[in-house]
This record gives sequence, structure tokens and C-alpha cells, in this order.
Amino acid sequence: MAKLFTPGPVMVPRDVLASSASQVVSHRGPEFREILRHVTEGLARIFDTDGYVYVLTGSGTTAVDAMAWSMVAPGEKVLVPVLGEFSKRLAESLKRRGARVATLKAEPGDAPGPDAILGELESGDYDALALVHNETSTGLAYRWLRDVARKASGMGVKVLVDTVSGLGGEEFSMRWGVWAAASCSHKALAAPPGASFVAVSREAAEYLEKRGTPEQTPPLLDLSKYHAFLRDRGETPFTPPVTILYALRRAIDRVLEAGVDSYVEAHAARASLLYGELPRLGLTPLVRDARLRSNTVAAFETGARSALAVKKLLGERGYVVATGMGELKDRVVRIGVMGDLTMEDVKGLIDAMREVLRQPASSRESLTR
Ligand SMILES: Cc1ncc(COP(=O)(O)O)c(C=O)c1O
Repeated sequence: MAKLFTPGPVMVPRDVLASSASQVVSHRGPEFREILRHVTEGLARIFDTDGYVYVLTGSGTTAVDAMAWSMVAPGEKVLVPVLGEFSKRLAESLKRRGARVATLKAEPGDAPGPDAILGELESGDYDALALVHNETSTGLAYRWLRDVARKASGMGVKVLVDTVSGLGGEEFSMRWGVWAAASCSHKALAAPPGASFVAVSREAAEYLEKRGTPEQTPPLLDLSKYHAFLRDRGETPFTPPVTILYALRRAIDRVLEAGVDSYVEAHAARASLLYGELPRLGLTPLVRDARLRSNTVAAFETGARSALAVKKLLGERGYVVATGMGELKDRVVRIGVMGDLTMEDVKGLIDAMREVLRQPASSRESLTR
């Protein structure tokens, strides 16, 4: 079977997969409440929060949209540093919510520094800062998040974080001054797709309690409802993805058994192998600043070779990777190292890449460049 080196969904360990093959229980009964308690308490340890974690049915976008639609009121001013495609989606969700969104742009593979972000926040009377922790489209980890979040929250700005492809693969803590953060089951946590979650600080939970249900927010994205159901009944307001939560429970236990830091470190080790070896084969990391290269998704410029052709040739050898997004489509390959992958698997991919790059570009490939 082909190995998935994609930026998610990722390959799921056998025991996690097997956990989902149990009969569905009622989400209004005690067995389900126990599962949800286990999942939310485990996630709270991974998010490193003494606040709440709400579990939603849906992909990462569901959690990001719920955060945008529940934590920002129409007319509020939000700063979004644009690191790539997922930052643009975050800005778009906030705009549709009715927020006044200002962006700080950077070239693909680069990011605005903490001074640029904090300077803009200081001068601009902002209500919130929304940013992507690990920008999957360019393989950039915003490692200044801790510093920026601390200072921004100190200014009274709500810090909203998309850590869809960061949680479990990059160091992260809600205690850095993060107001709310969104993630999902099928990236570094290595469970199947179908569940997503929003972690909120105690302050943010109080905000949800006070604010109640705003009329414009679709019920599915209204975190006030998730908060009330979790607090009062230990349940979700809508049908949860029950069998995915069986798998997620096991996936979370695996992370906690390894220890969150070691689990993050294992991603860093797999990614480092790629950053060390692939430049020797002629590929260039898209993120030039080595301090910001993601542990979970490594992006490389393919130079004279078509990224689409490289992806195809790797696929024929049993390795599934992704190409760039948007304008980077044919210029960049993105290699995810999340999920059920070993160092040996990464070495296998590097060998396959060596073989692919040794082959001269076909005339068709040259024509498409
Ligand atoms: C940073 C980031 N945000 C949001 C999303 C959207 O997640 P999904 O495709 O699960 O809806 C992704 C997906 O790759 C992502 O990487």
C-alpha cells in the first residue's frame, strides 16, 4: 500500500483504526459522556489549557469557522498576518463574519516578524489577532507565537490561533495568552478525519457565557451552545462522530503515553531528516529561515523540475506527497511527516526522491514548465 506523506489526512496507526470498529452508542447516554470526558480531558493536556475544549463534527475548517464566528463580533477589528493560503482562508472567514480585517502580508515561505505584528497592534486599536500557527501551504511554523501571543494578550487583544496542522507536531500552549485555538483529528494526532475541536481559555469561556447566542451565527458554529452542553450535561449539542471519537480517544492516549514533548520531537526528527537530505538532491526549502521550518510539513522548491511531475513519479514508487497550493502548485512539493510513519519510511521516501530526480525531465515535463 502507498505511504501517505501528505499534509493530512494522514496514515492512522492500526490500534487507533481498530478502536473505531465498535458499536455506536447513544450520544445522550453515560457511555458517550465518559468518552467525551476522556477526549476533552486528553485534548486539554495537549492544548495545555485549564479552560475548555469543545468537540465538533467536521474537518479543520469547521473548528476554524466556529472560532471566527463565535469569538469575534461583527464590526470588530482583527489583524491577520498572511503566511499563506490557510491564513487567507482564516481572514475570509472573519470577513464573512463581518469583522473589519486588516492583513500583514509576507512572501511565500516568509512571515512578518513579531515587531511588525506587535507594532501594528499597538497603533491600530485592534480587538483580535488571528493567526495560523503552522502554515501548511508553505511549511512555515510561526515559532514566535509564544512571544507575540503573550504581548498581544497583554494589550487586551484576543489571540485566535489556527493550529490545525500544528497541534501535537509543534510546541503549543494555551497558557501563552491564547484566547481560542482550533485543530482537528486527522493531522498530527493521527486519527481519521471527522472530528475537530476548539480550545478556549477560561476568559473566553466567560465571554461565551455572557454573550449567549448571537442571531447571525449558524447554530453549528456557535460555541456558546457547545459550552452550555459540555458544562451542563457533559455532551455535545449536535450528533458527534461517535466512532471517530473512539479512534481519537486512542490516538490521544498514544500522544500522552509518549509525552507531548517527545511526540512533537518525533515529528521534528522526521522533518530534520528531510531538511538535511533533500537539499543535497537539489531541492531548496521554501522557508529560508531554518528557525521557521515546520516539523509537520516540509515544503521544497523543485527548481527546474515540475513539482507535479515529481509528485507523479513518487506516487508510482508508492509515496504520496502534495504539491504547492495556488501559485506554488507546480513549483513546490510538500511532504507531511505526520501520522503512522517511521524514520525508515522517511529514508525510503528520500531514496525514491533521489531516483526520481536522477531521471532527466521528460520532454512533456519540460514543455509544461
Ligand atoms: C492550517 C490549516 N488550517 C485549516 C485547514 C483546513 O482543514 P480541513 O481541510 O480539515 O477542513 C488546513 C488543512 O490542511 C490547514 O492545514
